[in-house]
Amino acid sequence: MTEDKLPLAELLAKSGDANFLRAVAEAVLQLLMEADVEGLIGAGRYERTGERLNWRNGFRERTLETRLGPMQLLDELPPHVRVVDAAKIPYGRAASQEVINSTLIEEAKAGRFVVRLKGGDPYLFGRGFEELLACAEAGVPVTIVPGVTSAFGVPAVAGVPVTHRGVAHEVVVVSGHVAPDDPRSLVDWPALARLRGTLVLLMGVERIRAFADALLEGRPADTPVAVIQEGTTRSQRIVRTVLSEVADRVVAEEIRPPAIIVFGPVAALGDHLA
Ligand SMILES: C[S@@+](CC[C@H](N)C(=O)[O-])C[C@H]1O[C@@H](n2cnc3c(N)ncnc32)[C@H](O)[C@@H]1O
Repeated sequence: MTEDKLPLAELLAKSGDANFLRAVAEAVLQLLMEADVEGLIGAGRYERTGERLNWRNGFRERTLETRLGPMQLLDELPPHVRVVDAAKIPYGRAASQEVINSTLIEEAKAGRFVVRLKGGDPYLFGRGFEELLACAEAGVPVTIVPGVTSAFGVPAVAGVPVTHRGVAHEVVVVSGHVAPDDPRSLVDWPALARLRGTLVLLMGVERIRAFADALLEGRPADTPVAVIQEGTTRSQRIVRTVLSEVADRVVAEEIRPPAIIVFGPVAALGDHLA
């Protein structure tokens, strides 16, 4: 059995290999083509590795949708693959999700092979399951290909392990999409303030002061914090600070989304390695 014919589970176990992404991409595309179904692919974050998806030649007309997927992965697509930039679909965020869903369904029903390429993991605050449900309701079969979420991949590339033996035995990933006092919030902030382990906050830059204040209700003021902007890209920036100062540092350093904010003792590890 050759490398690119290994079962996907075996390929996933080989995630330390330099050729991992290429091999997975090959295997996934082969699997999707053989199954002749649509794919919802999490592309992970791999800009630093210089790896490229090695798309097979000989595709029939296929459509590939992308919004947050790493654009450099599209470089090697053959010309007959049509790329639809979902970021440019109009009418605002809520409506555009409906347009994205209907585009996926219409293209698939027109007989095209559709790949929905998303950043990180398609389901982790990625609305991927909404797209899957829409396709399922329309009778369009879908294969899910999970990617490494930015919640874990971005800290890792920046030198921050989200767990470490003897330091953190728990890690919680939280959305900062709404403030702690927002009636729409489903997050138990008092429980998170009692946490000893790692908290990874996504979409938290805009309301960092409110989140830090909520955590200060239970966590020590000197809890280490790492803020990583545009992780894994050439523009990556990392700011190391502590809980009581993180809001001021985010403002002073002009941190902008996309950023990941890691709270907990692991955020102080690896600082001396940078
Ligand atoms: C809507 S969520 C989508 C997450 C995605 N599904 C995943 O698994 O990575 C977008 C948030 O992910 C985080 N994010 C994604 N890519 C990032 C990057 N390269 N650097 C820092 N944060 C990133 C930011 O918090 C951003 O606001």
